[in-house]
Amino acid sequence: MQAIRAAVFPVAGRGTRFLPATKASPKEMLPIVDKPLIQYAVEEAIDAGATKLIFITGSSKRAIEDHFDTDPELERALTDAGKDELLQSIRGIVPDGITCIYIRQGKPLGLGHAVLCSRSAVGDEPFFVHLADDLIAGNPPCLTQMAAEYAKHGGSVIAVEKVPPEDTSSYGIVSVDAANQDRIMAIVEKPSPDEAPSNLAVVGRYLLPAKIFDKLETTSRGAGGEIQLTDAIADLLEESPVYAYAFSGKRFDCGSKLGYLKATVAYGLDHPTMGKAFREHLQTLLDGE
Ligand code: UTP
Repeated sequence: MQAIRAAVFPVAGRGTRFLPATKASPKEMLPIVDKPLIQYAVEEAIDAGATKLIFITGSSKRAIEDHFDTDPELERALTDAGKDELLQSIRGIVPDGITCIYIRQGKPLGLGHAVLCSRSAVGDEPFFVHLADDLIAGNPPCLTQMAAEYAKHGGSVIAVEKVPPEDTSSYGIVSVDAANQDRIMAIVEKPSPDEAPSNLAVVGRYLLPAKIFDKLETTSRGAGGEIQLTDAIADLLEESPVYAYAFSGKRFDCGSKLGYLKATVAYGLDHPTMGKAFREHLQTLLDGE
């Protein structure tokens, strides 16, 4: 089975749910404890075998390029100060052998349009799409689980999770054939609860074939006036198998303020050096002292 080499990170959205924090800086640079969301995303893709990282960027996204670039001045300052641990933490962000490609999405015309912008960089191979604001704590990481799933059947794989029925209008929703390895039968973008085919929601991890680009080329504007990846996937279902994959792990919607706070607390409690002190502090707060 073909290894998945390319990972696409659409980071050109406006991030309106997180304003004002996202007015001048991208939501993907919001830190969870000590790393920005986009770094967790990149680490997950590299763990799954990706070597070509393609960022679809928009306005106010320069910080992302800077984050993955080397900073000789900072490295020199840390070396001179003998701060080896900090030096390693910035040096190893993108390991050797990994290529970063940045493509500008002129206008935020939707996730589908953002993915289409990656066409020439991806080429004619299956690829990952990773939405960094959906942070997933999983062991193995979610994309690695999905690559293993792909190795079993060679079809496209989309990560899904059950959501409360009243929340279907915030997600792409799928119906699946449980007797056929959860092959997706239908996919709808943001249906109201009474129109939703199930409560199985698509979350921000996809493993897609290059054929999706042909579908995106002809996808017209859908929900919210945007070119929706969901609509292109609905087209794809008719000619090749796409499977829903209920990943193991815990997802945090870091594009929402509450989801972001939950992730910060969970990752803070789990942190190897600060976790214990943070837990004690939270306990004190909860005890009202
Ligand atoms: P969201 O639906 O979370 O939209 O996009 P958003 O604009 O980022 O955030 P809100 O809803 O206004 O708060 C899902 C993913 O698709 C990317 C976003 O960056 C995010 O990772 N995206 C969306 C693009 O890259 N381009 C677009 O035109 C739209």
